[in-house]
Amino acid sequence: MKLSGRPLLDTRPDHELFVDRSDEITRIRAALGQGLNCLVAGERGSGKTSLVRALMFEERQGADPQDVGLPRLLYVRGSGAESASDLLRRAVEALAQYQGVQLATGLPGTSGGLIAELAERARRGSVLMVLDDAPAAAGNALFGALRDELWSIDLRWLVTVATTDSATLLRPPADAFFESQVTLDPLPDDASMEILRRRMGEAPERLLAEAASIGGGNPRRLLDVAREFDGDYSKWAEFASAAAERERALAALGRPAQMLAAELELLGGASASDDRLLTAMGWTRPRVVQVLAEMEAAGLVTASSLKSGQGRPKKVYKVVSAGQFLKRRAQAQVQTQAKGPTKTQSKGPTS
Ligand SMILES: Nc1ncnc2c1ncn2[C@@H]1O[C@H](COP(=O)(O)OP(=O)(O)O)[C@@H](O)[C@H]1O
Ligand SMILES: [Mg+2]
Repeated sequence: MKLSGRPLLDTRPDHELFVDRSDEITRIRAALGQGLNCLVAGERGSGKTSLVRALMFEERQGADPQDVGLPRLLYVRGSGAESASDLLRRAVEALAQYQGVQLATGLPGTSGGLIAELAERARRGSVLMVLDDAPAAAGNALFGALRDELWSIDLRWLVTVATTDSATLLRPPADAFFESQVTLDPLPDDASMEILRRRMGEAPERLLAEAASIGGGNPRRLLDVAREFDGDYSKWAEFASAAAERERALAALGRPAQMLAAELELLGGASASDDRLLTAMGWTRPRVVQVLAEMEAAGLVTASSLKSGQGRPKKVYKVVSAGQFLKRRAQAQVQTQAKGPTKTQSKGPTS
């Protein structure tokens, strides 16, 4: 595991890596304990999945400091669901699996039928649905258009959503479904440092502090940074200065480029027509293409062709990591030296 970027699971070894967020968990538990539906919103990589898994683990262990006695939490993956029916089908499947019953072939095709099925199963034993990473449109259809039907069945929901999807998800009448909302704010630096300490063992404090500051409170970004220098602390000073220089190069392109870089990083790369990217930015595709071109010219993103099924291959853009930026800078320096002294400054990452 170590510095892997996967979400933490509801297991003991993973729970030992889970840091902080106890305030948020306390508030979620209190809301659910009062029978309220709860929405957790946070940036991609802020730790939504890890947080609900930690809550599930603690509940299963009976480790409930507030003693609210929650029903069993059932995990339902939201990502990739295209409609309210998709989401309902996944919920029914999770419930059936928990109850240990084979699903008869073919679930009801209509959302009304699926809700009836869900209601009927929920009556057999108290559970709580954890819908992780609710897609914006499908989530809004479920908790908005079908809100009153959902309200009429005896089942509570804990739902997580990416910040950029939350406005769409909450479009009325879905807003009223979530009586309680919790936001995952950036982690404080000492929590970020603790995340690294638990995964890397002994590492110089100054290094942990700098990584925490580059991570900016987002654990995914933090681990991306740490992975780049894992094991080789001697390179760290150089790395940190490359990271700072990369930030300056981005800043020189302006706020839009910085925002696009942040979103691209958390998506782990995307094409200019990626819906998640367009929604997150609230931009048109041509605008994304334009800013990506500026970033590519400045050596801040790389593009690779991805052939997906039929149609033209897509260009997938990734932000160059600080480590790559460092390498490019070193290469550029070698080239400059090979050319001998020149009067003109080279452009791009060097400076
Ligand atoms: N509280 C935490 N303590 C330790 N590691 C965390 C914590 N929250 C998130 N992480 C790590 O950060 C990364 C992103 O977390 P994840 O739960 O996948 O975020 P999200 O679901 O919001 O995209 C994962 O690698 C996860 O292991
Ligand atoms: Mg997640």
